[in-house]
Parts: sequence; structure tokens; C-alpha cells
Amino acid sequence: MLTKSPAWQALLAHQTTMAGVSMRELFRDANRFEQMSHDACGVFVDYSKHRTTSETLQLLLALAKQADVTGWRDKMFAGEKINGTEHRAVLHTALRNRSNRPILVDGTDVMPEVNAVLAKMRSFTDRLRDGRWKGHTGKAITDVVNIGIGGSDLGPVMVTEALKPYWKDGLRAHFVSNVDATHLAETVKHLDPATTLFIIASKTFTTQETITNAKSARDWSLATLKEQSAVAKHFVALSTNAKAVAEFGIDTENMFEFWDWVGGRYSLWSAIGLSIACVIGMDQFEELLTGAYEMDEHFRTAPIEKNIPILLGMLGVWYANFWDAQSHAILPYDQYLHRFAAYFQQGDMESNGKGVDRDGKRVDYTTGPVIWGEPGTNGQHAFYQLIHQGTRLIPADFIATVDTFNPIGKHHEILLANFFAQPEALMRGKTPDEVRAEGVAEELVPHKTFTGDRPTTSILVQKLTPRTLGALVAMYEHKIFTQGIVWNIYSFDQWGVELGKQLASKILPELEGAAPVTTHDASTNGLINLYKSRRR
Ligand code: F6P
Repeated sequence: MLTKSPAWQALLAHQTTMAGVSMRELFRDANRFEQMSHDACGVFVDYSKHRTTSETLQLLLALAKQADVTGWRDKMFAGEKINGTEHRAVLHTALRNRSNRPILVDGTDVMPEVNAVLAKMRSFTDRLRDGRWKGHTGKAITDVVNIGIGGSDLGPVMVTEALKPYWKDGLRAHFVSNVDATHLAETVKHLDPATTLFIIASKTFTTQETITNAKSARDWSLATLKEQSAVAKHFVALSTNAKAVAEFGIDTENMFEFWDWVGGRYSLWSAIGLSIACVIGMDQFEELLTGAYEMDEHFRTAPIEKNIPILLGMLGVWYANFWDAQSHAILPYDQYLHRFAAYFQQGDMESNGKGVDRDGKRVDYTTGPVIWGEPGTNGQHAFYQLIHQGTRLIPADFIATVDTFNPIGKHHEILLANFFAQPEALMRGKTPDEVRAEGVAEELVPHKTFTGDRPTTSILVQKLTPRTLGALVAMYEHKIFTQGIVWNIYSFDQWGVELGKQLASKILPELEGAAPVTTHDASTNGLINLYKSRRR
């Protein structure tokens, strides 16, 4: 039992000591910053502003060892079927294995297939970008619309937004995910069917939202282009399911394949990244893969004391399990990263939002935290109040770049001043005496006091290039992996999304006609019947 294990018990005891130690005291050690910060693959990580000592880190790493994080890591990289409930390997790392060393699944090296799809993506995107790929009327493509949801949307959205400075002039990417027709309608409103290419991205090619949107997009396209043959020039598919792609009417020649060992939320590195490659080009897409590969190598080979994803994962365990932290904020001080937290909401919460362990037993400890966040400095004027003075402990990651793509006036300096100031304020707080020393009236002193001791990690990269972004994303992926292993859960399935899907497909036919629905609980029946009576 995890919670009875020696490593866990030692951390429990240690927490009671650390609860009485302030970070201000810890920073009396002049070497703290040097000792508790590392650079890995161009990602500088400062984890000194935490409620930890070197003993804490040793105890956390003892827990990681007890859970055999490195053993499971090696199994993942070797292609073992560590996704136990789906009997699948977990090999997003193979997609970016720039060393090309063989990786075997069921005795077959997957690298030739991976390389073949990358070559197909290159050939396609080169032709699209230089205008050789023509639409049905002979015009070049100016707009690509990715239709997908969850992992078939969030990664491409996040990365294309993050890498906007790398977009080719005259070629734009759009994303439609929600089955609410508004998303499709508003996206295509100003597009020309003759110059628009739809990328239908779905691992299963059965996802209701995506197939519904894809059919409506096809109707929109053919309403103008008229001939069925136009589909071949305006629709491509990204999927593991060739049969369903063909049934939809997309020639499998125009399908970019990936495999069941790529989890949806880990798939941006696969053909699912085609929309990214369209706008930034295949050379830059491969840079993204290279950055992730470098972080993979760091995770695979660095000693655990210096292994950034393992350290970050264990710090998350520290707060979730020993300090009762319920959530974790991701706060990029970079507008280009405005979808980064949303991306890792799926990445982390769909991976580690599990309540039973690998033996199917209900866990008696907390697993994945609620992930949330918005770019700084916007968040400072919205929700930081609660992080600074609320009753909850919210560990937060602050992310920034040294260089900006938009050096206008003092914007970047102001942005970074805030990036430095917030973690400092969260760590130091302000004591009642310090408030009084500012001449504050006594009745306001409690309101203007900050307890401090609120943990943060500061992450600094030189510039938001495809390579640094790849490394940054892979760092978080491996952090999530580390935590899943410690919590003894299966991080690579997502059964929790199924029940709602099942119930929705039961309700859909019930919405037809006027007959009252009686097959659900009183609330659900009542809501459905209210809708039916009011719809026009
Ligand atoms: O419903 C959850 C989910 O299965 C995610 O895990 C996945 O990323 C998303 O749906 C989309 O799935 P697909 O790529 O098969 O359409």
C-alpha cells in the first residue's frame, strides 16, 4: 500500500517539520538558487521557491525510486505495453526519435513507418506551401481548417498559436472542434471553398463531434465546388482508422497515418501535427520534434537528482499528497503561449484524473490536480488575488522567454518585471510588521498582510522557437508520466470520458418528435422535456 510505504510515511513526517519552516528562512542559504535550478535542453528551471530542503528532495526521490519511475520510464521508451487497460505501448517518444534507433512493438521496428509518414507530410506540406497542390478550381490553398477535438485539436491549436512568428505569409490555420455549429459557421464565414483545405483529424475517426463537423464542412465545400471529385483536393484525413476514412469518402492516398500506440493527448508529434507543419513548414516541425527528443534524452538518461521532469513531477506529488493542494496553475508570461494551460488541462487531467490504481483498487490518496491558468500579466488582474491571499495552496509554474519576437518599447521588460515579481511576492509575502512599517492603519493590517510561502517554479527559455517549445512540452509530458507512476495509476487510458458519450447517444434519438421523455431521472427528464416544449 502506497500510503503505508516507508517512503510515503517519511514524507508525511517530514511535512510536519516543513510546515513550520518559511521560505524566507530557507533562502538564508546563499546557495539555494544554484542548488535548486537546472538547465535542460534550453529550458532553465528554478525550483528553489518551494517548501523544500535538500532532505525533502531526497525523500521525494526515494518515493520515486520506490515506485520504480525509472524502470517504468525504460519500459515506455522500449515499447512495452504499459497502457495496461488498452494493452498498448506508449510511444509518442518514437515519433520524435531523431536518433532513429530501432523501437520495437510486437517485434517490429516502428521507425520505418514513422519516417515514412514524416516524409509524406513533408511532400504534402511542401506542395501546399509552394502552391503546387491546387484546389479543385486550380487555385492554391490559402486556409487550412483542422477539424478535430481533444488531442486532435488542442495540441495543434496550442503549437500553431505559440509559433505564429514562423507561419508562412498567405497561409492561415483555423481550428474547429466544438459540435456547436457556431464554431464551424463562424470559422468558414470568411473563407473561400476554392482555397480552403480541411484536415479531418481523428485517431478513431468515430468521434461524434469531428465526424459531424467534417460532414457539414464537406457540404459547405461542395455547395460551391459542386463536384464530388473536389473532396480529393480539399479534404485530407489524419487517423489510425483507414476503413472509416475511406467510408467517409476521403481517398486513403490523402490519409496520414498514425498508430494505436500514440495517445490522443500525446499526438501532436504525429500526423495530427499536419496543420502545424502546413503553416510553419516541415523543417520547423522537425525542429519541434528535435526539441522534444532532446528532452526525452534528458528524461531517459539524466540522474534523477538532476532529472527535471522527475523533479517537477515529485514536487507536484509533494503538494498534492502532503500539503493537500487541489490544483496547479500554469502561468505563461508569453501571449504566444495563451493555449498552453488549456493544452495541459487535457494532457494532465485526462492522464492522471484516475481514482483506481493499476490493480483496479480505489486509491486512498489524491491523484492528478486540477490544471488551470492563463497568460500573465492578465491573470494578475483576475485570479492572482486568490493565489496570494486565499485559503488554498496553489503551486504555480511561471514561464517566460528572454527574447521577444515583438520588441516594442519597454513591453518585454515590463512583462518580465512582473514575471520576476510575482513568484517573489508569493514566496516572501508581507508580514504584519512590514505592513505597519508602511504606515497602514491598524484595522487594515490583516487585509494587507500576505502569508507568503506559496510555492512556484520559474521556467525561462531563451526564445520561443519550435525547438524550445518541443522541449518544454516534452518536459511536462514526462512530469505527468512520473506522477502517474508514483500514484500507481494508468496515465494513458481515458475511460472516464465514455459514460457521458454513451448517455448523449441515448438521448439524441429521444430529442426527436414531441413525445415526453420518461427514461431518466426527474431532473434529466424535466430538462429534456422543457427543451422539447420550448424549441421552435
Ligand atoms: O473523448 C476523449 C478523447 O477520446 C480524447 O482522448 C481524444 O483526444 C479525443 O477524444 C478525440 O479523439 P479522436 O482523435 O479519436 O477523434
